[in-house]
Amino acid sequence: MNILVTGGLGYIGSHTCVALLEAGYNVIAADNLSNSKVENINKIKQITGQEILFYQIDVVNEDSVNRIFNNHKIDGIIHFAGLKAVGESVDIPLDYYYNNIVSTMVLARACKRYGVKRFVFSSSATVYGDNRVPFIENMELLPTTNPYGETKAMCERILSDIAKVPSDFSIALLRYFNPVGAHESGLIGEAPKGIPNNLMPYVTQVAKGKLEKLRIFGNDYPTIDGTGVRDYIHVLDLAEGHVAALENLKEGAHVYNLGTGQGTSVLEIVKAFEEANSIKIPYQIVERRHGDIAECYADVSKAERELGWKAKRDLVEMCRDAWKFEKNYKELVES
Ligand code: WQD
Repeated sequence: MNILVTGGLGYIGSHTCVALLEAGYNVIAADNLSNSKVENINKIKQITGQEILFYQIDVVNEDSVNRIFNNHKIDGIIHFAGLKAVGESVDIPLDYYYNNIVSTMVLARACKRYGVKRFVFSSSATVYGDNRVPFIENMELLPTTNPYGETKAMCERILSDIAKVPSDFSIALLRYFNPVGAHESGLIGEAPKGIPNNLMPYVTQVAKGKLEKLRIFGNDYPTIDGTGVRDYIHVLDLAEGHVAALENLKEGAHVYNLGTGQGTSVLEIVKAFEEANSIKIPYQIVERRHGDIAECYADVSKAERELGWKAKRDLVEMCRDAWKFEKNYKELVES
């Protein structure tokens, strides 16, 4: 089966392309390279020994998307492409609403036009807002603190409504928690442009000496040690969750949490990283970051029950793989 992966050269997208190829699917990646590198095509081939087809397009462009469907029989879509920085979304909300929502509608229209029924959508735990933990799929969603989260909630509603039309769509709405780590080869991983927003790439750049110290955003939250608690999931577990979702699609739209079900604080991540890699991470406690919530972790029973999927990689592997990629990546780029 041919699977179109939008954002297929990005962090989660490239790992999902690897998982799809290893599961026997053919992969067509579409990416505008705004937050990814074309070199990932060769790295995916190096890891899997298999080729992927690649289109450098913007998936908001309907003609570009239709060209792919005209050129290939598409059996399913995994839609990652979109803008995803919470803080940035507050500064440029129109770009976020336009890119994230129009791209989803363009792809859904193409599916209708070409009779493609399998659709896996990249959503986010951000849609839960400041709900009580653990987050459960049938919870009422609360307003998020940012346009990014709102675009994900709106896309979920659009896809849920179009899936109500009998036999038109089988859709999985996957709510990610905090993806971290990298493929064990060290060839692909999280390489944000500029100063990282997210915790783990910031920690690896401190470990590398590229950044002086980690600023921990607040230690006065009502959590185990006062620092923010999140559900960190290895990106390969997340990628395998997409394959499981694709293989267990059923008519209508169905929501699944992709997390580990474990909450880990910032200080616990620092300690785990130091112990896993025998490296000291200097840090300073600073004021809270606007928009952060205290705790965010998943109830993961539904994905295990309905998809037969459960995250299996632990914090040590997450920290080791993240560090291996950081070392390997910087050497590749600077060599
Ligand atoms: C994790 C914890 C911070 C950086 C976001 C999006 C979410 C998803 C993942 C897209 C928090 C603390 C962080 C730093 C710190 N993205 N932190 N110093 O905010 O939980 O989730 O990214 O889908 O939608 O909301 O991830 O890695 O930014 O923060 O102390 O330099 O680390 O306060 O407690 P977050 P994060």
